[in-house]
Amino acid sequence: MVKIEQVSKIFDEGRPQAFEALRAIDLEVGAGEMVVLSGVSGSGKSTLLSLIAALDKPSSGKIVVGGEPISKLPDLHASAYRAKAIGVIFQHFNLLDALSVEENVIVPLIPSGVAYPTLKQMASKSMQMASIEHKATQQVKALSGGEKQRCAIARALVHDPKLILCDEPTANLDRANSLKFIAMLETLHAQGKTIIVATHDPLFESLDFVDRVIGMEDGKIV
Ligand SMILES: Nc1ncnc2c1ncn2[C@@H]1O[C@H](COP(=O)(O)OP(=O)(O)OP(=O)(O)O)[C@@H](O)[C@H]1O
Ligand SMILES: [Mg+2]
Repeated sequence: MVKIEQVSKIFDEGRPQAFEALRAIDLEVGAGEMVVLSGVSGSGKSTLLSLIAALDKPSSGKIVVGGEPISKLPDLHASAYRAKAIGVIFQHFNLLDALSVEENVIVPLIPSGVAYPTLKQMASKSMQMASIEHKATQQVKALSGGEKQRCAIARALVHDPKLILCDEPTANLDRANSLKFIAMLETLHAQGKTIIVATHDPLFESLDFVDRVIGMEDGKIV
């Protein structure tokens, strides 16, 4: 599902403050696999996820997702790639505060040109799965942290992506909501989704549905 070959990422390349955040990474994640990326702060976890999501480009190396080389996609194609295949859940939810839960969930579907009644149905299904449908018409700014998280999950899953990327998804959640989130990941894993979670939350260390824990250190896989 994800094939990463000799990927390096140098920020501010060619300048005195240049920093090599990823160093010749090789990694393969199979379809349906649930993988945890762990490592101390600054080890390169978020950088790696952003390259897999085509939110940024590697300085060198190759990334292939679902058979499609994505490392050199122009921006317009990169957003089409995300809209088709990827769900991303960030630590800071990046929700639109002034809009309702349902509107936030529908936003990523708008460029698809799908008719509005169908969009509403897709949003409803995704909000149900994330247990946030009862707040569909509420403005995001009036939600609790755990509810915002569930809204972000509903938005990430509304297009039924095959690959789900989560960056520190439980960092803003209390234990009860973290456990609920983990239960939802388990359901998605059972449905055959490929899931990559970057986290240093110890709750992820002992889960039996995690197929692999990949350690990162100084931009390398250890
Ligand atoms: N845009 C940028 N410009 C320069 N350096 C950057 C940039 N983004 C990240 N870095 C550096 O790259 C390194 C890896 O950052 P990254 O965010 O991938 O770490 P991380 O493992 O996700 O850490 P955390 O656990 O704190 O989220 C860090 O040292 C960071 O300062
Ligand atoms: Mg990070």
